[in-house]
Amino acid sequence: MITAIIGSGTMGSGIAQVAATAGCQVKLYDTKTEALDKAESALEKILRRLIEKGRIDEKEKQRIQSNISYVESLKDLSDAHLTIEAIVENLEVKQKVFRELESYQSKEAIIASNTSSLSIASIASALEQPERCIGVHFFNPAPLMPLVEIVPAVQTSEEVFEKVFSTIKDWKKVPVKAQDTPGFIVNRVARPFYGEALRVYEERFAGVPEGEAGFATIDWAMKEFGGFKMGPFQLMDFIGNDVNYTVTETVFEAFYYDPRYKPSFTQKRFAEAGYLGRKSGKGFYDYIEGTKKVAPLKDQKMGQKIFDRVLVMLINEAADALFLNIATAKDIDLAMTKGVNYPKGLLEWANEKGISWCVEQMDQLYDTYREDRYRCSPILRKMMREGSRF
Ligand SMILES: NC(=O)c1ccc[n+]([C@@H]2O[C@H](COP(=O)([O-])OP(=O)(O)OC[C@H]3O[C@@H](n4cnc5c(N)ncnc54)[C@H](O)[C@@H]3O)[C@@H](O)[C@H]2O)c1
Repeated sequence: MITAIIGSGTMGSGIAQVAATAGCQVKLYDTKTEALDKAESALEKILRRLIEKGRIDEKEKQRIQSNISYVESLKDLSDAHLTIEAIVENLEVKQKVFRELESYQSKEAIIASNTSSLSIASIASALEQPERCIGVHFFNPAPLMPLVEIVPAVQTSEEVFEKVFSTIKDWKKVPVKAQDTPGFIVNRVARPFYGEALRVYEERFAGVPEGEAGFATIDWAMKEFGGFKMGPFQLMDFIGNDVNYTVTETVFEAFYYDPRYKPSFTQKRFAEAGYLGRKSGKGFYDYIEGTKKVAPLKDQKMGQKIFDRVLVMLINEAADALFLNIATAKDIDLAMTKGVNYPKGLLEWANEKGISWCVEQMDQLYDTYREDRYRCSPILRKMMREGSRF
């Protein structure tokens, strides 16, 4: 199968590696020659490292590399069966590229977008044949993260969905079907991991200390009681406060300002100050060499309270995604474990904690704050009444 990738940046180059490893003939295209050169030398380095680790041999490296050609014209993608676009996150630019691409390709060719925040319906609407368009959302780094959210638009044909779903499986990835709604599964369900942690900090909930000790305390709680590999503040620093804030703001607007997704002033100010995280040397933590790490306040009772609050908000979000048929329960749990490395699926976690525990926790939060942000998902309440489980 000939696969075309448009955009050879972070995501495009990773997706090209995945497809080439799976045996596809890949054509990687970018408007910037430097971006293509960079992708080619980055792949060389990655594959060298895999050889050093004993994961592949020289022959395999050559096989993968020879499967990729680097092209400088969109016209060169005319014979692709599947094209995945991973360019700048701008609707007009994507639509323009899709329109031009469609004019070069056969009617059977599938055109997919790796967009994180735009609706697939709006991208597809640029095409003469919108039924050939679909969302194929990889996670960063694409070669390492197993999850791919497959997002059919209202226009997408069933045949296109089936073909893409099985192709992604052939690429040894874990595809899940998600509805074309803001954030799809992962970027919607994961919001409270950041948002509620920030709120806990802003309130100094349960005695959380101020400044870096506060961030460290919340991170410690999530790792200690939940088994998360990284705490929310470490993760925001890793993603970049500018990027993470923008995603939150986009999701908030896309949900017509539902208070559940309200962004945080703390994070906004950090982003405005240029405290972006690891990439700028300072975020919630200091990354300048020689800076002493501030220790968390390891109070067991406080830690448990923090963890329970963030966890129940995550569970509530996952339950509500199921309630609104964004995806199946199985796919929601797979998405969080395979896309963002959660130690456990959130719905499985709800079963373990008990559905009535979840409802009680949400009702307590709602009673305390009287904010719509803390409304319990109707599905949890219904399940508690019925005594059922996810
Ligand atoms: N970075 C992530 O973590 C991540 C994760 C999932 C999805 N995404 C989505 O993937 C897409 C790409 O993100 P990225 O982080 O790889 O961006 P990036 O900036 O690393 O790469 C984008 C590349 O596209 C090229 N480009 C821009 N306009 C072009 C055009 N008209 N034709 C051809 N090439 C063009 C640029 O030169 C650049 O090399 C976005 O839609 C983003 O929302 C990103």
